[in-house]
Amino acid sequence: MEAKGIRVAIDGPAAAGKSTVAKIVAEKSSFIYIDTGAMYRALTWKVLQNRISPEDSQSIVDLLAKTDIDLEQGKSGQRVRVDGDDVTEAIRTEQVTGSVSHIAKHPNVREQMVQRQRKLANKHDIVMDGRDIGTHVIPNAEVKVFLKASVEERARRRYDENMQKGLTTDFETLKNEIEERDRIDSNRETAPLVKADDAIALDTTDLTIDDVASSILEKVNQAIINE
Ligand code: DC
Repeated sequence: MEAKGIRVAIDGPAAAGKSTVAKIVAEKSSFIYIDTGAMYRALTWKVLQNRISPEDSQSIVDLLAKTDIDLEQGKSGQRVRVDGDDVTEAIRTEQVTGSVSHIAKHPNVREQMVQRQRKLANKHDIVMDGRDIGTHVIPNAEVKVFLKASVEERARRRYDENMQKGLTTDFETLKNEIEERDRIDSNRETAPLVKADDAIALDTTDLTIDDVASSILEKVNQAIINE
């Protein structure tokens, strides 16, 4: 299908429902979904495998330079590959989740990741989610959304998601982990988590996923008409 030249940027704090909503919007619009958090998680997985310190930014950048990170759109959702190995589940472990913000805070690491993300964004109509998409990766995206929700609601959603996967997690531990990631992501020097001035803010605390997706799809349709 011919690309319409529409880029949808969805940013927001941890567990705000970005990826769930982004997948629906991408599917309904026949756009490609790009999960930039999965890219930072994939790198984190490889850093941990190689026993590199999350603070050793030069070694991390060198490792990233020789690492292939692929996001594949499969029938059963997106698969993440690192140098050909399927790490889709491995990048969601507590260990990766607990280290990823420390690795994503390094300016030289972000620079390389942003270059990769811009290349992907140039090829197709896309829905890209992350923390700095509307502010840095694609500042001129046609649709920009910033999703938020209370930390209690975000922890509750993550708790329910884990229960569905058969994982029992302590609610307070989940809440603390989300708050800690938000703290690091919001306070880093380079491209911190912040709403772009021209992004539409949606508080999803009391909204259903379908409400949020419909509201973004309306903006996408408007952007298509305006093209
Ligand atoms: O979206 P996620 O929770 O899977 O992202 C994991 C981490 O990756 C997040 O805590 C911070 C980092 N990240 C980032 O710094 N910039 C992005 N565009 C996406 C994610």
